[in-house]
Amino acid sequence: MTVFDPASVRPLFPPLARAMSGRPVVFADGPGGTQVPTAVVSAMTAYLQQSNANTGGRFATSQETGAVVARARAAAAALLNASADEIVFGQNMTSLTFSMSRAIARTWKPGDEVVVTALDHDANVAPWMLAAEDRGAVVRTLPFTLPDCSLSVDALTALIGPRTRLVALGYASNGVGSIVDLIPLIAAAHRVGALVFVDAVHYAPHGVIDVRALDCDFLACSAYKFCGPHVGILYAKQKHLEALTAYKVRPSTMVAPGKWETGTQNFEALAGLSACVAYLGSLAGSPVGSPTATAERDPFARSTLVAAMERIAAHERTLSARFLEAAARIPGLRVHGIADPARAAERTPTFGITLASAAPHQAAERLCEHGVFVWDGHFYAKGLVDQLGLADAGGLLRIGFAHYNTVDEIDRVVSELQALAR
Ligand SMILES: Cc1ncc(COP(=O)(O)O)c(C=O)c1O
Repeated sequence: MTVFDPASVRPLFPPLARAMSGRPVVFADGPGGTQVPTAVVSAMTAYLQQSNANTGGRFATSQETGAVVARARAAAAALLNASADEIVFGQNMTSLTFSMSRAIARTWKPGDEVVVTALDHDANVAPWMLAAEDRGAVVRTLPFTLPDCSLSVDALTALIGPRTRLVALGYASNGVGSIVDLIPLIAAAHRVGALVFVDAVHYAPHGVIDVRALDCDFLACSAYKFCGPHVGILYAKQKHLEALTAYKVRPSTMVAPGKWETGTQNFEALAGLSACVAYLGSLAGSPVGSPTATAERDPFARSTLVAAMERIAAHERTLSARFLEAAARIPGLRVHGIADPARAAERTPTFGITLASAAPHQAAERLCEHGVFVWDGHFYAKGLVDQLGLADAGGLLRIGFAHYNTVDEIDRVVSELQALAR
C-alpha cells in the first residue's frame, strides 16, 4: 500500500483554503460533518441543471433521475459490501432509524426487551426507547467500559436473553473515537435471537465497512460525514426489508428497497453521493507491485474502495499517534478513551478531551480565535457525557480529524492547546 498524502487532495477541497487573520483555518470539526470536494458539488449542480425531474416518468430527465438513484444505490452498496437492493436512502441517519425502529417495533410484544448503549449517539438510543414505550417493551442500557470507552461482550451477554428482540450498537464513539469490536457483540446478540442495528455514522469516514463480515441486520450512516452531501444511508438484510411492514402511502411501491423510501428523494444529494464514493475510490492508490495507475481502477469496485479506506485509515493512525504523543505532554489535558499512541488502530482520530485551564466551550472559542475549528459539548452522545460525569461541566472538547488533515495541522492544534494550558 502506498502512503496517502493529504496534500494530494487538499486542492480538491476549496473550503480548506479558508484563512482567518492571515492564517489557514484548521478544520478539526470533521465528526460534526466533513468538507466536500468540488466533484461532489459539481455533480449536484449538474443534476439540477440537466436532469432535474421526479422519477417514474416516460421522458428523458425522469429516466436520467432514475439512473441517478440506481447509480447511488450501487455506489453505497459497494462502499458497505451490500447489494444495491439492500440500500435505502433517507433524509439522514436519525430519520431512517426512527422509521425503521417503528417498523421493527410492530413485531414486539409487551415484556420484550431492547438493548441500547451508553456509548451511542442518541440517534441510536431515543428511537429504540420511544419504540419500546409504544409497545410496552423493556429498555436495558449497556454501560461502556473504562478507561477505553468501549463495549464488553461479557457485559452484553449478561444483559441479553430470550426476550431480547433488538440490540442497538455504535461502530465508533462520536465523542471519544473508540472503535467498537462489533463482530463478537453481534454474534452474542444473534445467539439469543436478537436483531442488531449498527450506527456507523462516526466510523464510516475512517475505515472499511463490510456488512457481510459484520453480519449485522441493519447499519446506518450519513454521507455528510465522509465528504458527501446531507443524505442518510440504511443497509438492511433483504429478508428484513421484505418481511417488515413500512409506513407508506398506498399507491407507492411496496417492493424493497423503494418501499422504505417515503416521498420524493433528494436526487441532487444522491448525484453527489455517487461523486463522493468515486472521490473516495480515487484515493485507492496503485496496487503494490503493479504499474496500474489509480485512474485505471474502477472507483466503484469494492476492492478499490477497500484499498482507499485502508489507505485513509493508515494515514489517520499517523495523525492519531502524533496527536496522542503530544497531548500526553500537555499539563492538565486529559484524553478520554484510548490515549496510548500505540493503540491508534483501535480508535478514530476523534479526541474527546478536557482541560484543567478552560471549560470546553471556552476552549472552543479560544481555538476559533486562532483559526482552529472544533466542537464542544455532548454531540448528542448523552450517555457518554453522563457516564463520564461531564454533563454539568460542559461535556468534552472534541477535536476530530479527517483524511484531508495534515501532520502540520496536528502540530498547529497541539501548539494552540499548549498555549491554552498555560
Ligand atoms: C455517531 C452518530 N450517530 C448518528 C448521528 C446522526 O446522524 P444524522 O445527522 O445523519 O441524523 C451522528 C451525527 O452527528 C453521529 O455522529
